[in-house]
Amino acid sequence: MKCGGFFMNKQTEFERRLSRHYDELKWLYCELYPGREDLFHQLCTMLEGFYNDRKPAWKTLDRKREKDPEWFHSQKMVGMMLYIDAFRDNLKGVESKLDYFLDCNVNYLHLMPFLETPRGMSDGGYAVSDYRKIQENLGTMEDLAALSKKCHSKGISLCMDFVMNHTSQEHEWAKRAVAGEREYQDRYFFFDNFDIPAQYEKTCPQVFPTTAPGNFTWLDSCHKFVMTTFYPYQWDLNYANPVVFNEMTANMLYLVNQGIDIVRIDAVPYIWKQIGTTCRNLPQVHTIVRMMRMITEIVCPGVLLLGEVVMEPSKVVPYFGTLEKPECHMLYNVTTMASTWHTVATGDTSLLKHQMDIVNSLPKQYVFLNYLRCHDDIGWGLDYDWLRQFGISEAPHKKFLNDYFQGYYPGSESRGELYNDDPVLQDARLCGTTASMCGLEAAGFEQNEEKTDRAIQKILMLNAYLFIQTGIPVIYSGDEIGQVNDYSYKESPDFDRRTDSRYLHRGKFRWDIEPCRSIEGSVQNRIFEGMKKMESLRFAYAPFSGEADVWTKDTYEPAVLCICRQLGNEMITALFNFRGEEKVAHIDMGPFEWKDLLTGETRVLREVTVPANGCAWYYRSWQQENGTEKQETK
Ligand code: GLC
Repeated sequence: MKCGGFFMNKQTEFERRLSRHYDELKWLYCELYPGREDLFHQLCTMLEGFYNDRKPAWKTLDRKREKDPEWFHSQKMVGMMLYIDAFRDNLKGVESKLDYFLDCNVNYLHLMPFLETPRGMSDGGYAVSDYRKIQENLGTMEDLAALSKKCHSKGISLCMDFVMNHTSQEHEWAKRAVAGEREYQDRYFFFDNFDIPAQYEKTCPQVFPTTAPGNFTWLDSCHKFVMTTFYPYQWDLNYANPVVFNEMTANMLYLVNQGIDIVRIDAVPYIWKQIGTTCRNLPQVHTIVRMMRMITEIVCPGVLLLGEVVMEPSKVVPYFGTLEKPECHMLYNVTTMASTWHTVATGDTSLLKHQMDIVNSLPKQYVFLNYLRCHDDIGWGLDYDWLRQFGISEAPHKKFLNDYFQGYYPGSESRGELYNDDPVLQDARLCGTTASMCGLEAAGFEQNEEKTDRAIQKILMLNAYLFIQTGIPVIYSGDEIGQVNDYSYKESPDFDRRTDSRYLHRGKFRWDIEPCRSIEGSVQNRIFEGMKKMESLRFAYAPFSGEADVWTKDTYEPAVLCICRQLGNEMITALFNFRGEEKVAHIDMGPFEWKDLLTGETRVLREVTVPANGCAWYYRSWQQENGTEKQETK
């Protein structure tokens, strides 16, 4: 008998799932929380409760996905992320627009934080004051469940943020901690004076050096310091306390049971703190994520974990865990995203090629979420050790990139704003939408048609590059209609918005220009239809499968990146020109005819001219006949 009689008689579905992980889960839990077997048993009982509470429809989906655990590896997955209020006011509004997502080929919808959060101290919803309540203006838990049901009926999976590193200072635990309850102070990091915080500060870097310097905040209300890695109103939870782990796990499962398919574990590298370290990516973080993985496999095996690890590749990849002991199902491909924009600014693809080579050498089981833009700033976390060989060093290069994307650099048509400009570290980050960063805003302002064409070309090239990558492409809502920066945040009545330039690219979805996507030749139409075409080609052609072999090829032209994908007897050779002038890719792909899937033109791939900021997806298939190849391009 194990775990309070769970495995005594004929096993139920829950017991079968629990027994698969029981030993490892218990081992890890007790290693992290020695002597707290009582709380481990409480956890197991709680898991059974959440399993029992799961709606029959979710349980059916769990079983289906359990039999097909790689369901999300499909090349037919396309994601979109959005703020509910910015998109369509509230959950009901989003529900009323599900056909729009289908039109966008989207079958994975990431709803940005929607839980209760204090106005003016919310960090875009990443300061949660109640994990069981939806922001009043967005709707109710019933609305979420209804949206989820409708999404599922249309084949759309829902993703939510699980902000687990910290709570809002308005969370009940925080309030009770301030009121002096020791039990709740122990759920955070509370200190009577700055002695211990000072030790942390020696090695723990800052996340928001300008808008929220330091990692601790003085609380006048109770005369204590509290750890606040992010904003002063976001109090770090102490996962060394098993009660925190159990309670937060309960919150996650409660939310998942409302019909969530994908849990984005926010700021996961930060969840374990230790003096003398950077307080990032510590081994205990991996123990916790591994436990979360087992817990979802026990209670809700249809649910996926998406880790938000905004770090360099060597720090990101360990969050996949190992084949025997997996952690996250999916991770963001953040370095490729940042390297892509570096390439837009420099017109030199060597770093991107190097970055692609790293990603392509990883096991095919690893699923990355690829994206051009998201709700956050772009941090210039590039491989500077590698760039050094070209005489590029970090601080001046970051300055160049920031100047370029603010449109200060000669020849740049980009429009953007700095974020957390730290004069000491010279480490500013950048905000702006894809369209504005590609020059569409400047072109529109000048009413310059030629510049508009160039901007659209660049946007489509970047999307072609996004869609060629293995993994799940995630579109940032508004990008599909070329939405530009929204400067209205500067007039917001809320101080935290007014002073946070990330709101530059968090503007309201432009339903006023959205209908233009059906007007042939309009800006919106060219971008929307261009992306749709790429999506349908991605769905239809075998080399886009995650099973395909992918590699880069030298073009002997720094501006042009060449990516090849092959599955069986089918292959795609894709070319991307990152410069605003026509360039020649010096490649030789044999005497065969290749068809550009994007234009329908066929040609032999030798010395290929690629238009300014142009791209091409050349395809061919063949059959092996008596040892010789027979061309068969469709
Ligand atoms: C994540 C979010 C970001 C937020 C931070 C703190 O990085 O993407 O928007 O500020 O977490 O919760």
